[in-house]
Amino acid sequence: MSENREQFSSRLGFILAAAGSAVGIGNLVGFPVNAAKNGGGAFLLIYAMFVIAICLPVMMAEFAMGRHTDKGPVGAFGALSNQQSGWRLAGLIGVITPFMIGVFYTVISVWILGYLYMAATGDLAYLASEAAFGEYINSPTLFLSMIGVAALIFAILKMGVQEGIEKASKILMPSLFFMLICLVIFVLTLDNAMAGIKFYIIPNFEKITASVVNGALSQAFFSLSLGMGILITYGSYLSKKTNIVSSAKMVALTDTSVAFIAGLMILPAIFSFNPDVNTSELSESSVSLIFVLLPKIFLALQASIGYFAASAVASLFFLLVFFAAITSLVSIIEVPVAYLIDEKKQSRKKALGTIGVFGGLLTVACALSFGMVAFLTEMLNYGGGTKSMFDLVYDLFYETILPLNGFFVCLFVSYRWKKHALNKELSVGNEGFEGSLMQRYVNFSLSTFIPIILLAIFLNTVATKFFAQPLF
Ligand code: PHE
Repeated sequence: MSENREQFSSRLGFILAAAGSAVGIGNLVGFPVNAAKNGGGAFLLIYAMFVIAICLPVMMAEFAMGRHTDKGPVGAFGALSNQQSGWRLAGLIGVITPFMIGVFYTVISVWILGYLYMAATGDLAYLASEAAFGEYINSPTLFLSMIGVAALIFAILKMGVQEGIEKASKILMPSLFFMLICLVIFVLTLDNAMAGIKFYIIPNFEKITASVVNGALSQAFFSLSLGMGILITYGSYLSKKTNIVSSAKMVALTDTSVAFIAGLMILPAIFSFNPDVNTSELSESSVSLIFVLLPKIFLALQASIGYFAASAVASLFFLLVFFAAITSLVSIIEVPVAYLIDEKKQSRKKALGTIGVFGGLLTVACALSFGMVAFLTEMLNYGGGTKSMFDLVYDLFYETILPLNGFFVCLFVSYRWKKHALNKELSVGNEGFEGSLMQRYVNFSLSTFIPIILLAIFLNTVATKFFAQPLF
């Protein structure tokens, strides 16, 4: 099996692919706003600490499980537990989660492509109008954009690991870095940019509450694509020569740097648009920021640089977000595809077809749940409000289940697969690992406080989201 499994061709290719997965909409808009609202530099410090102390060991464990078994979540949990059904179930949740995240993330990527098209073809003024977002997400033209996104994802995934995922990441990720830097430089020349930077960076420890700490850890967890089965699957395409520990550090560093630098773009933009902005009123939601506030900011630029240049800046921004979304989508859809290939023995083409049909139907249903179909728009009532199908998928799979999946990974590698076996895999390609401080930290943290913290966050999120009763 392992001889003919496709692998990433180089360590750099692997790091770019994993970073491509990690760098997503969450980094570019979610993180900056979260940070600005919740204590600026104080939030940044806590976030960085969580990335290093909690997320990195989990990331290493996921990579190690995948590489050791040459399998995705179901296969890896199964193979390492003698096919115990309980653990296979944990693996199965690790495949359903990315499949469902893929569904709602596709919907957002479809909107982004639509906005990119409209900004680039002279419709920025319309996008900045109050009605635009509500109209666009309920317009049939949406489906044209959906076809575009689906075709692109399928074209990449059909080419497989090296020619598809790795090649796309090698093109899209450097372009993304370049566009991000260009936008930061431009935004820093705007009036009042410094006020935004100050707000972003100067620490305000008074804002740090239990819920902010909880939010920082959840943000770090999903920003690094943990608990989604992705890193197990990507680990299974990893050669035995690769040093997992140092690669994981590079992925985490890239993801965190992009999130941080994105703040240097978003906050000065917000402050130059409105110097008196009250950040506590900024919506937490990335969606309303991207599709409602930012188009207004881009349009306001026309006073100084003209409509054409303002449209160019807006298009560059949407292209940047689109690239980030595509590499994340590719990684997340690869998980169920790899599952069908490995466990159900389907060809890559057939697996893509299967996921295309089922995922496509659910994606269309989610896209229709913003008003086009009443039953999907008002599907359920929980957590103190009426929820659409999109809300349900988002709340369940993005907001809630990731820490639980992480919790399973920690317990599994520490107590079922066992620490010495994990250490052995982490030592492959990294001889100095055994006996190092890192090894002791990874073993200790994964078997003690990390799973406890992840479980606490999971329970708190369930209580908050579904019962409107936060525990802390
Ligand atoms: N890390 C991604 C982000 O920040 C999360 C993600 C990864 C979402 C893969 C979907 C698919 O947006």
